[in-house]
Amino acid sequence: MSRIHLSKADVTGVEEQYLLDAVRSGWVAPLGPHVDAFEAEIAARVGVKHALALSSGTSALHLGLLELGAGPGTVVIVPSMTFAASAMPVIYTGAEPVFVDACRGDGNVDPGLLMEAIDTLQAEGARVVAAMSVDLFGRCAEYDQIVPGLQERGIPLIEDAAEALGAAYHGHPAGSFGAAAVLSFNGNKIMTTSGGGMLLSNSEDLIARARYLSTQARQPVDHYQHTEVGYNYRLSNLLAALGRAQLSRFDGMLARRRAIRQMYVEGLSGLPGVSFLGRDDEIRGDDEDNCWLTCIVLDPAVTRVSPTQLIAELAGEEIESRRLWKPMHLQPVFAASRAFVNGQSEQLFDRGITLPSGSALQDDEIERVLKVLKSTLAVSR
Ligand SMILES: Cc1ncc(COP(=O)(O)O)c(C=O)c1O
Repeated sequence: MSRIHLSKADVTGVEEQYLLDAVRSGWVAPLGPHVDAFEAEIAARVGVKHALALSSGTSALHLGLLELGAGPGTVVIVPSMTFAASAMPVIYTGAEPVFVDACRGDGNVDPGLLMEAIDTLQAEGARVVAAMSVDLFGRCAEYDQIVPGLQERGIPLIEDAAEALGAAYHGHPAGSFGAAAVLSFNGNKIMTTSGGGMLLSNSEDLIARARYLSTQARQPVDHYQHTEVGYNYRLSNLLAALGRAQLSRFDGMLARRRAIRQMYVEGLSGLPGVSFLGRDDEIRGDDEDNCWLTCIVLDPAVTRVSPTQLIAELAGEEIESRRLWKPMHLQPVFAASRAFVNGQSEQLFDRGITLPSGSALQDDEIERVLKVLKSTLAVSR
C-alpha cells in the first residue's frame, strides 16, 4: 500500500528540464537570471510592483516586519490561528507579538477583535507598528473589513499569504493586500522551490531596503563595508529555476487542489457532524480559495470521534493527516504574550483535521481517504 501524504511536492519532467538548464548555464551561485525572472513572474501573477525572492517565507516575514518598523519597544498584532512561522519573526525583530483570535467559519483573524485589540493597546500607550493577516489554508482573510479598519487607525498591514498563492478576495489576488506580503515555497505548499519565499510590495523603497538587508547589508562600494547588521536570505538561481517550472504548471496544480476539495465535499456530503472549514456560505463562497489544504471540522456532539482518533485510523491505512494549527496563544513559547481571544481558534484546534490535498494525488487515492473517513465517522454514531 503506497503512502498518501498531506501535501507532497508535485514535480515532473518540466522541473527537471528547468533545473538542468540552470545547472548547464553555469549560474549555480546564489542569484542569477532565474531569480530575476522568477521575481518578475510572481509579481505579475499577484499584481504587485516589486518582489524579492528569499530563502523562506519566514525570512520574508522577518525582513517585511523590519521594514515596517518592528523592533524593541513595538508591538505587532498576529493572528493566533496560524503556523508558528507567522509569529517567530516578530520575536527576531525584538518586537512583542500580541495575538488575536479567529472567525468560526474559516479560522481567519476576526476583524472586529483585531480592531478592538489595536484600540485597546493604543489607548494603553503601546506602539503598534503593524498588524498581520494570515490567509489560512489558502483562503483570504476578510479584507473588506481589515483594510479600511487598519487605514483608519494608521496601522500598516503585513499579509502572510504563505499558504495562499492563487487565492483571491473579491477578484484581488492573495499577496496584494498588505504594505508588504509574504509567500512561501516550502516543500508542502501549492508550489515549491523545495525551500524559499518571496516578499512582495508596491513600495520600491521597501523592497530595495529588504534586498540590501538580505545580502548581509553590503554597502555599494568596492570593498566589504557594512554599516548595519544584515542577513543571508537570498534564494539561489537553481531554486528559482525550480520555482519558474512550478509556476509554468501553476494553473493546473491549482485546479487540481480545487477538484480534490470538491471530491471530499461530494464524498462526505450527508455525513452529519462534518463540515468544511471555509465553506460557510453565509460568510463567503469558496471559489476564490486556492484549496491548499482541505480541512474538516467534526462536531463532537454528533460524531463522537476525536481528530486524534480519526488521524490514527487514517495513519493505519498509510494516510497522513494532521490537526489544525495549535493557536499561538496556547503555545508554551508564547505563554507570556498577550492575546485577545474569543474561543474560536481553540475550538477549531480541538475539532479540525487537514486532509491529503496535494495536486499530484490521484482520484483512487482520494477514494482511499474517503473510504476510511466514511467508515470511521459512520461507526462512531
Ligand atoms: C502561515 C505560514 N506562515 C509562514 C510560513 C513560513 O514559510 P517557510 O516555511 O517558507 O519559512 C508558513 C509555512 O511554512 C506558513 O504556513
